[in-house]
Amino acid sequence: MQPNQSNSLLSQAHQQVKARLQNGAIAIDATLGNGHDTLFLARHVAPNGMVYGFDIQEAAIVATRAKLRYAQLLEQVRLVLNCHAHLAEHIPAQHHGQIAVIMFNLGYLPGTDKQVITHSESTLVALNVALDLLAPDGILTILAYPGHVGGDSETAAVEHWLSCLDQTHFLCTTHYSNQPSETAPRLLVIEKLH
Ligand SMILES: C[S@@+](CC[C@H](N)C(=O)[O-])C[C@H]1O[C@@H](n2cnc3c(N)ncnc32)[C@H](O)[C@@H]1O
Repeated sequence: MQPNQSNSLLSQAHQQVKARLQNGAIAIDATLGNGHDTLFLARHVAPNGMVYGFDIQEAAIVATRAKLRYAQLLEQVRLVLNCHAHLAEHIPAQHHGQIAVIMFNLGYLPGTDKQVITHSESTLVALNVALDLLAPDGILTILAYPGHVGGDSETAAVEHWLSCLDQTHFLCTTHYSNQPSETAPRLLVIEKLH
């Protein structure tokens, strides 16, 4: 993964979701990592909104909590140490179908030994659940990295899943920071239509 490429795609992801965020909105970060996306989401839904953040690594929870505390946005976020395949269980029923933005940033926690990565089996379960939770007019973004071992098959599986979505209900687009190539990171965007 080229850091400058993924940073540019991260900014693109933030640009894509920004219009759907407002005070009071509900959002999900399905892969906390170091908490950059959660912090961004929390800033944009404060003071009355809520962000639900998921990761399977305690280190991600700790890093994200520190960022939120520093920004005085802890109140805005529920941090959950669990696989995103279980995300529906942690979202109150009244928010099902009301989520404005859901972000996935696949792969490994930057700065670690890359042993813990997202896997297509749980990623696809989580994506299906996420689409059900999304509000009409909601948006879901997926940053995918086919350049690392495991990321190639996961990206292929996610792209196949995306190509099978009903295009009358979902608008799907793919963005690259540079020239598209087999190993280039990519931003997949799904907008739920009415
Ligand atoms: C690329 S990082 C996310 C970057 C993050 N969004 C940020 O802003 O820093 C991917 C994260 O996904 C987490 N992860 C891996 N498998 C997961 C799963 N099944 N459920 C939730 N998180 C998972 C990893 O622990 C890692 O922290």
